[in-house]
Amino acid sequence: MIEIKKDIYWVGIKDWDLRVFHGHELSTHRGSTYNSYLIKDEKNILVDTVWDPYKEEFAEKLEREVGLDNIHGVVINHNEPDHGGSLGYIMSKMPEGVPIYCTKQGADIIKKHFHKDWNFQIVKTGDTINIGKYELVFVDMQMIHWPDSMLTYVKGANLVLSNDAFGQHYSPASLFNDEVDNCELYQEAIKYYANILTPYSALIKKKVEQIKAMNLPIDMIAPSHGVIWRDNPTQIIDKYYEWSNEYSEGNVVIIYDTMYNSTKSMAEAIADGLAKNGVKAKLFNSSVSDRSDLITEIFKAKGVIVGSCTVNNGVLSSIATLLEEMKMLRFKNKFAAAFGSYGWSGESPKIINQKLTDVGLKVVQEPIGIKYRPTAEELAQCVEFGAKFAQSMK
Ligand code: FEO
Repeated sequence: MIEIKKDIYWVGIKDWDLRVFHGHELSTHRGSTYNSYLIKDEKNILVDTVWDPYKEEFAEKLEREVGLDNIHGVVINHNEPDHGGSLGYIMSKMPEGVPIYCTKQGADIIKKHFHKDWNFQIVKTGDTINIGKYELVFVDMQMIHWPDSMLTYVKGANLVLSNDAFGQHYSPASLFNDEVDNCELYQEAIKYYANILTPYSALIKKKVEQIKAMNLPIDMIAPSHGVIWRDNPTQIIDKYYEWSNEYSEGNVVIIYDTMYNSTKSMAEAIADGLAKNGVKAKLFNSSVSDRSDLITEIFKAKGVIVGSCTVNNGVLSSIATLLEEMKMLRFKNKFAAAFGSYGWSGESPKIINQKLTDVGLKVVQEPIGIKYRPTAEELAQCVEFGAKFAQSMK
C-alpha cells in the first residue's frame, strides 16, 4: 500500500511478467499494473479492483490494510475484467448492501458479468458523493473506451482517478512519473493510445475540451495502468489532445512482407525515393515485427506504404492481419500506397490498395507491381514511386 495523497492509497497489483494482453492481441513488453485506490475517510471508498487472477492477493491486502468490513463503498469506473474482475470476490467478503457507484451501463455490465443484483448507485457527469473531508465527483467517459467508462475526481485532493485514460501498460520501479525513465513512459503511453484508443479520437478530443472547461484544479492524475502523473500532471491531457487531433510525426512507414526479398528490395528502393525528396521512412518486415509496435508506428506516421508479394491470388498473412487491424482502429488522414512483387497472377498490390482505401486512408497513387526479381530499371521505377509519394505529402 502506497500513500499517493493524504489518506489515499494505491492498493493495486504490479504484473511484472505480463507480455500479452487482451488475449494475445496486444504486446506488453514492460508488463503492466492494475491500479486500485483506497480512500480512507469518514467513509472508506475503494476505487476499482484488479484482474481476477490476483483477487485473493488483492483481498488479503485490503483485509490487512483496512479490513473488508470497513469498506463503505466501491467505485467501479470501468468493468473490463482487468479492473472489475475481482469485484465478485471482494463483494462476497464484504457486508451485504455495500453500494457500488458506477454508470448505468456499468451496472448493466456488472450484472452480466457476475449475475448479481447488488446495491448499485448510478452516477453521471457532475454527480457527487461526500465521504468526509473529500468529495467524489464523477465524469462520464463513455466509449473511452467502453460504454461504461467514467472517471472519479477527488475534490479536496485535486486528484483524478482516470481509469484506462492516460494509462500505460508499464510496470515500473516507481509509481510516479517523475521517478521513471520518461522515454519508456511515453513509448508506453503512446502505444496504449494507438492500439486501444485510436478509434475514439473524436470523442477524446471533445472530452478533453470538456474536462478543460470544467477548470478542475488537478495536482495528480492516477490511471488504472502504469505510473501516476504527479509532475506536471496535465501534460498527459495535453498529449491526448494532440494525439486525438490527426497526429503525425511527419515520417513515412513502409511495412512489407516478402518471400524471396523481391518485395523487400522494392521497399528499400521506395525508401530511397522518399529520402531523395526529404521524407524519412522507417521500414518494417511485418512477419518478424511485433504487430502492436507496428500499429504504434502507423499511428505516428504521416504516410503508410504497404507491400506484399502475391501468394495464391492473395497477400501474405502478416499483411492481411495488419490491414484488418488498421481497419478496426479506423486510422484516418494518412497518405497511403501499395506495392508488391509477383510471379504470375499479381493481385497483391491491388488487394492492398483496396484495403487501404477501405481503412479510410488517403491513397495517393496507383499501386506498383513487379514480376519476379526487379531489374535495375524496375527498381528505378520504385524510387520514382517513392519520390511521387513524397511530393503528394507536401
Ligand atoms: Fe479497458 Fe484496462 O481495461
